[in-house]
This record gives sequence, structure tokens and C-alpha cells, in this order.
Amino acid sequence: MFSLLVLNGPNLNLLGTREPEVYGYETLDDIVTHLSKVAEEVGSTITHRQSNHEGELIDAIHAARGVHDGIIINPGAFTHYCYALRDAITAVNLPTIEVHLSNVHAREAFRHHSVIAPVALGQITGLGSSGYEWALRALVRHLQKKR
Ligand code: DQA
Repeated sequence: MFSLLVLNGPNLNLLGTREPEVYGYETLDDIVTHLSKVAEEVGSTITHRQSNHEGELIDAIHAARGVHDGIIINPGAFTHYCYALRDAITAVNLPTIEVHLSNVHAREAFRHHSVIAPVALGQITGLGSSGYEWALRALVRHLQKKR
């Protein structure tokens, strides 16, 4: 049984109505509900947190130490420039998978670079909401191998 922290960054609270042609019609609640079911299926639990504030995401990552086994994070636009978020992930040393709903590499140039990816276990981008599910399954598989 693994405990996973799922973090969503700025503007992701607006999923469902925010540029649905880019991010889809599912709400964050829809995604988290589905993810909880998948977690249960693989014998794990998730704790979800969304914040539009850099410091709150950093605090949540710090608080994950000794509580959660791994992190799934969609850092939103923080992906592209937030070194403090990257440092927090490095500091807690928990396996972390970065998720993006859209294919960031097929979009504006500023989205092509992630400051998070080098400290993440891996990155899933462009698979829509199912990216969160693949991240969860991959993270659990990774944690099982480490046992
Ligand atoms: C995003 C991609 C980011 O570039 C963007 O700023 C977001 C969402 C995605 O899930 O596709 O807010 O992380």
C-alpha cells in the first residue's frame, strides 16, 4: 500500500472550462475521482492538492516527507521557470512524475522547456487526463521494485 501525493498547480482548478480544446472537458474533480479509483485498484491511496500559489505547492512537497511515498505533479506554468519548486522536489527526494495534459512540445516555445523534468523520475505529456493514470501506475510499479 503506497500513499501518493497528487499536486496540481496554477489554473488547473479551472479544468473543464479552461481552453477545453487544449485541456479537455473533464474537471479536476472528475480526474481526481478517477485517479482515486485507480489507486484503490492497485492497493494505494492518493491525497490531492491544487494551488495557484508557488509557496503552497512547495509547503505541500515539504510536508510529504515521511508521509507519502511518491508525488505526481502537474506544475502548470511553473513547470517552465519555477526553480524553487524543482529544488523542493530535489530536497525531499521522493520519486516524482511530472504530468501535462497537453503536449507541451507541440505548443509555444516557452512550454518546451521544463525545469522540473531533470529532477523527476519521468514526464508524461500530451495524453490528456489519462496521463495522470499512467503516472500513478508507473509510480506504483517503481515503488514496488524498490521494496
Ligand atoms: C500544462 C501545460 C503548461 O504549459 C500550462 O501552463 C498549464 C497546463 C498541461 O497540463 O498541459 O497550465 O501543465
